[in-house]
Amino acid sequence: MGTTDKADEHESLPGEPRSLWLDTTPETDFDPLDGDRRVDVAVVGGGIAGITTATHLQERGREVAVLEADRVLEAVTGHTTAKLTSKHGLIYREIVSNYDAETARKYAAANEAAIEDVAARVEERDIDCDFRRRSAYTYVADREKRQNVREEVSAARKAGIDAVFVEDPPLPYDVECAVRFDDQAQFHPRKYLLDLVESIPGDGGDVYERTRALYFARQFPKRSYVLATRLAEAPPDGTFYRVGDTSFSVRTQPGPDGEYTFVGGQNHKTGQGGSTAERYRKLARQAREHFDVESIDYRWSTQDYETSDRIPFVGKLGPTTDGVYVATGFGGWGMTGGTAAGMMLADLITGGSNPWADAFDPMRFDARAGGKELLTENANVAKEFLGDWATKPLTSVVTLSPGDATVTREGGSVVGTYRDDDGKEYKVSAVCPHMGCLLEWNDGERSWDCPCHGSRFTYEGEVLDGPANADLSRLDLDD
Ligand SMILES: Cc1cc2nc3c(=O)[nH]c(=O)nc-3n(C[C@H](O)[C@H](O)[C@H](O)COP(=O)(O)OP(=O)(O)OC[C@H]3O[C@@H](n4cnc5c(N)ncnc54)[C@H](O)[C@@H]3O)c2cc1C
Ligand code: FES
Repeated sequence: MGTTDKADEHESLPGEPRSLWLDTTPETDFDPLDGDRRVDVAVVGGGIAGITTATHLQERGREVAVLEADRVLEAVTGHTTAKLTSKHGLIYREIVSNYDAETARKYAAANEAAIEDVAARVEERDIDCDFRRRSAYTYVADREKRQNVREEVSAARKAGIDAVFVEDPPLPYDVECAVRFDDQAQFHPRKYLLDLVESIPGDGGDVYERTRALYFARQFPKRSYVLATRLAEAPPDGTFYRVGDTSFSVRTQPGPDGEYTFVGGQNHKTGQGGSTAERYRKLARQAREHFDVESIDYRWSTQDYETSDRIPFVGKLGPTTDGVYVATGFGGWGMTGGTAAGMMLADLITGGSNPWADAFDPMRFDARAGGKELLTENANVAKEFLGDWATKPLTSVVTLSPGDATVTREGGSVVGTYRDDDGKEYKVSAVCPHMGCLLEWNDGERSWDCPCHGSRFTYEGEVLDGPANADLSRLDLDD
């Protein structure tokens, strides 16, 4: 397995197109919900947030049913890099500036508690999930960003974290400087969470797969990419994250063929990033610039959701929605965020108080923080809606090479056509069934992606990611 030829990377994509987490754990196979079921709490979504919430609620004696549209732990949680840390880029400087030190303290406390919650469970249940304590570094490559790192150290200390300014983080390439948090961690997220999932059935609890509930989205999807490489040099000691115009993330992980070094990054808004295949190639080039890469064995990518002030939404959905709670918008940091959300929601749902919850309140928005960016994001989404693209010139004649796709106007329909490697064409409606945006082709994953709220569909039109609840109509099949 693996690609080693440098010239090759310009033509083919590096690595096997599969997440190492999914490749090294068994598949799940829970039955769909058939008929009605009465429980204390229905948890919609079997990712880290849903499974942790269900576990905490069950520990407090509540009957829970997890409803998963597809298979549990395969969506974002199955495609993460799983650094368990309260160090999320340079977020403390942002929170102190947008809000205050008290909000930053709550954010830090929730995420630190999440690391300890995982650590305690791993120990109590003796879960074999490659859990390791690591120091976590965020670094910058440019001299102009040095001051940002100094400000982050100071803001993180205000938030109660013992942050350290570091001139030379332990990496084999030059960087400007870094901030370090100690006693952070990393783990194999599926090995850990599958242990939790297996404990849910029984005691009034249940897990249903292939069971989709109705819901909506209120954040912005961002896609990012990971390569699992094997190095010809010693792997770096720690977890690393470079902030800047594009992020670059590094961590190590034991795998089937020895120690892997994951590199990640190339983030962009879903459906708005140009060629996704080229993102993998760029990431492979970056990996080779920074490390002595022996092989690239796996590649995967997925999208996470971000709120406009980068603090997740955890809590009651709205003032008029009694009994409905949400946990989302982890912005690429849901290993701790999703775990902390489970702890907070269990407190809120069982009527207890939670010391961090007001910092994460989904109803917190006012003009003070996030307002400006929220408007910009809404304008960005609006640009993609029907009114705008209906007048876009779309060609009606195409000759596609195998593996290519395009959007054309055919009669009254806007058609997405994909030609597979054997020359067979698949035609779907290229209008997103969620709220009518024009879909874009994702050449890395061979899917139709929506630039508005991140729904994704296979080339045969089947929903891969919501909020869309309906498949695309197939336009090449007779009814
Ligand atoms: C490349 C990459 C690297 C990352 N690295 C890190 C990292 O190092 N550290 C970190 O902390 N975080 C990281 N993250 C972020 C982290 O992985 C996510 O924040 C986290 O996995 C999100 O978990 P979740 O439970 O919210 O979502 P998911 O894992 O996506 O789970 C949501 C589930 O809900 C289901 N669902 C959706 N709609 C419905 C419906 N209508 N009915 C029923 N079920 C439904 C989906 O099928 C899915 O299984 C990374 C993310 C990416 C993309
Ligand atoms: S319009 Fe909302 S996901 Fe496509």
